[in-house]
Amino acid sequence: MNYYIETYGCQMNVADSELIISILNDAGHIQSQDIDVADVLLFNTCSVRDHAEQRVLGRISNERHRKKSKPELKIVLLGCMAQRIGQRLISEDLGIDYAVGVDQYRALPRLLDEDRGSELGFDSSENYERMLPVHQGEHCAFVTIMRGCNNYCSYCIVPYVRGRERSRPYEDILQDVKGAVKRKMMDVTLLGQNVNSYHWNELSFPALLSKLQEDVPELYRLRFVTSHPKDLSDDLVQVMGQGGKLCEHIHLPMQSGSNESLKRMNRSYSYEQYLNRVRALRAAVPNIAITTDLIAGFPGETEEHFEATLSAMREIEFDYAFCFKYSEREGTAAAKYPDQLPEEIRLSRLQRMIELQREITLRIYRAQIGKEIEVYVEDFSKKSKSQVSGKTRDFKIAVLDGDESQIGTLAKAKVIDATAGTLICE
Ligand code: SAH
Ligand code: SF4
Ligand code: F3S
Repeated sequence: MNYYIETYGCQMNVADSELIISILNDAGHIQSQDIDVADVLLFNTCSVRDHAEQRVLGRISNERHRKKSKPELKIVLLGCMAQRIGQRLISEDLGIDYAVGVDQYRALPRLLDEDRGSELGFDSSENYERMLPVHQGEHCAFVTIMRGCNNYCSYCIVPYVRGRERSRPYEDILQDVKGAVKRKMMDVTLLGQNVNSYHWNELSFPALLSKLQEDVPELYRLRFVTSHPKDLSDDLVQVMGQGGKLCEHIHLPMQSGSNESLKRMNRSYSYEQYLNRVRALRAAVPNIAITTDLIAGFPGETEEHFEATLSAMREIEFDYAFCFKYSEREGTAAAKYPDQLPEEIRLSRLQRMIELQREITLRIYRAQIGKEIEVYVEDFSKKSKSQVSGKTRDFKIAVLDGDESQIGTLAKAKVIDATAGTLICE
């Protein structure tokens, strides 16, 4: 069958789609980039916020008309939403034929061949061992090193949909990384909800980083997401300090700068402990870029708590912050807190947070003007075909004049200007 797949959510889903593609291709199905010719439409979905779920439902409702002219067309919901509310959505007659959760992908070919959706097995310890994804990106590879999460941050649905934490065997990770490097992918990101708690036999996360660098000498840039501040060990700081292939960037979600909010979020660190980790990282890697995630309008957040987050942002000066408006997720602890904030407060705090971060990012990016940087050119720039764009080692987007021949190569560039999100180079 010809199948078409669309992916939403975090990089974990991007990597899972690559795994799904590998499973389907091995079974003889053919991936199509053209939705018009597909016999099966697959939507790999995200449940992290209500908005993410609504977007996919909107997409599916736009595509279900295809069933009129092609009655055999199947629409399959994959990923976190399938896990969370898949069966409910099927019964609601939205055009969705099957829902296949995050631990059921091995059963997909059987489902498509035999049309037996209701009989899918479910194994919550599924780790997809010995399976290699088909990397879809041309330049950047995402390699899953662990699945699931045990942290139960009070706002977060991920532990409920992704199940308990389990680490992939080193041999699988090694094979995956080697495969990516062989395909000339120079930027490899290791993925997990909390990579710091990776352990496979005696291998810890910092040891994994060192071992991969030893075992794959052709590896050029190595990154990882996401790092939970509570488990960021001195060993990891030390490995990052050794540099090597490891990029000078860390994504370290702070969520809030208020100790009271952090406690109610069940994040298991105080602002002071978070700051201590930031200082340790900056001491070990002086030019490290630090990005973060922040939530605005968490239940019970007072103006004072919110101000604590703004003041933390000013103190730390993140290179970039992904700012989110709190969204209640059914079944999580925070959804039961009695002090949910009205939508207007969540929104206005989100806007204030974004505005402050924009100023900080602009200042940091402008401070790069005049510097020589290395850009891994990945594509044409969004604005013009006579410009190309790519990432720096410290995870900044850079654009420069160039043509197709530069795509996939490393460019030495000089920063001549900057916006709050792009370095403009020559
Ligand atoms: N495992 C990663 C985060 C995965 S979710 C970590 O622990 O850092 C990505 C981000 O979405 C989170 O860092 C958080 O900022 C945001 N997020 C998660 N649940 C949310 C919710 N219910 N409302 C708003 N933002 C949320
Ligand atoms: Fe969600 Fe917290 Fe797990 Fe991240 S660490 S996935 S925020 S529960
Ligand atoms: Fe990722 Fe969204 Fe699932 S953030 S783990 S795709 S809920």
